Amino acid sequence: MRYAHITGWGAYTPPRIVTNEELSHLVETSDEWIVERTGIRTRHIADAEDHTSTMAIKAGREALKVANLDPAKLDLVICATSTPDYLMPNTASLVQDGLGASHAGAFDLNAACSGFVYGLTVGAAMLRSGLYKNVLVIGAEAMSRVMDWTDRTTCVLFGDGAGAVVLEASDEPGGVMSCRLGSDGSSADVLKVALGTRVPLNPLNMVNGNGPYMKMSGNEVFRFATKTMNQVTRQVAAEAGIAVDDIDLIIPHQANQRILATAAKQLNYPIDRIYSNLERVGNTSAASIPIAMIDALKEGRLHAGDHLLMIGFGGGLTWGACLVQWSYSPEDRRWSSYKRTRQAMRMALAGPRRWASRIERGLDFWELRRRRAERKRTKKSGG
Ligand SMILES: CC(C)(COP(=O)(O)OP(=O)(O)OC[C@H]1O[C@@H](n2cnc3c(N)ncnc32)[C@H](O)[C@@H]1OP(=O)(O)O)[C@@H](O)C(=O)NCCC(=O)NCCS
Repeated sequence: MRYAHITGWGAYTPPRIVTNEELSHLVETSDEWIVERTGIRTRHIADAEDHTSTMAIKAGREALKVANLDPAKLDLVICATSTPDYLMPNTASLVQDGLGASHAGAFDLNAACSGFVYGLTVGAAMLRSGLYKNVLVIGAEAMSRVMDWTDRTTCVLFGDGAGAVVLEASDEPGGVMSCRLGSDGSSADVLKVALGTRVPLNPLNMVNGNGPYMKMSGNEVFRFATKTMNQVTRQVAAEAGIAVDDIDLIIPHQANQRILATAAKQLNYPIDRIYSNLERVGNTSAASIPIAMIDALKEGRLHAGDHLLMIGFGGGLTWGACLVQWSYSPEDRRWSSYKRTRQAMRMALAGPRRWASRIERGLDFWELRRRRAERKRTKKSGG
């Protein structure tokens, strides 16, 4: 029997931190209102240099470092995002290229805030089936790019960032134990960014209020989220053959502290075992669970052998949960200086691999240099 273990993890949040007080200069709101109704105090916002793909690459690099895994050994890169760099090409391919994962397939997965749990479920299934050995699952979002910064009901909630895990196949029992995914497309309008082929970006659509910004019915999402957390946690625990109380830590999608408190009450589960970093990062959609997981590890809240439940809910509407028997404490992933140097050298090979794949495609070396110089010039001139 094959098992899927999380052997590496990494996160990236952009350096720019925006406080509630700063937002109160943009829209009619206050620190007091935001903290009381959501629990959020700050969020990270990407600057012009950071995109979904670049944040995903930074988180992915860190995860490969913790796993001590050569990027060339990755079989697959899954990037869960609802804010891709482009409609086409997929963001995961940009990440695969950026990491030098030259033998990996790559695809994007859009299940909004449930995306990371969907990615973990798919990645783990591929390992268990014997198809693949090493899969990188990333949740990455540039939510600030789809925010209407004049809409106080949404812009105070979201932030940017990325989190990644390496999944490795092994005969050792443990790792991802049971997963459940769900969807209710009849509620598609509850949470929406209407940018796509049905609503092409043109002046008429912008005037009609169909701009490419997030629209949300907050109260409906709130009700759906609390109901889902309660039902799905019970379901997944039962399927894994454990009681809800045997779950050592729940890492939920970080949407609203009041959602977490209500779910804790409904589940009769101690709120201090429902991890939250909302206060610092806000809602980073598909990135929120892996970022929270890594913060929990840093704070010593997660140890080898622990039962961890990750649960996501969001646009679609979609939901999903994975119960994991955690495989490694951070101390187990401290590598000797020889291994660290070897890993740094493997990562440094990403650059030459990127060049090699372009040269293989028939692009002339000097043409590549010319394009790179042109890109730099455009960036400098602010284009
Ligand atoms: C959005 C959310 C915080 C709103 O909180 P709420 O307590 O339900 O507030 P309401 O929507 O009932 O609005 C109450 C009032 O606050 C106002 N308000 C909304 N946003 C505000 C803000 N940022 N600052 C100040 N006032 C605000 C509303 O306009 C409304 O005013 P009115 O009574 O004069 O009409 C809450 O519904 C929520 O978190 N929902 C889940 C959203 C979510 O997690 N989405 C992502 C899921 S993946």
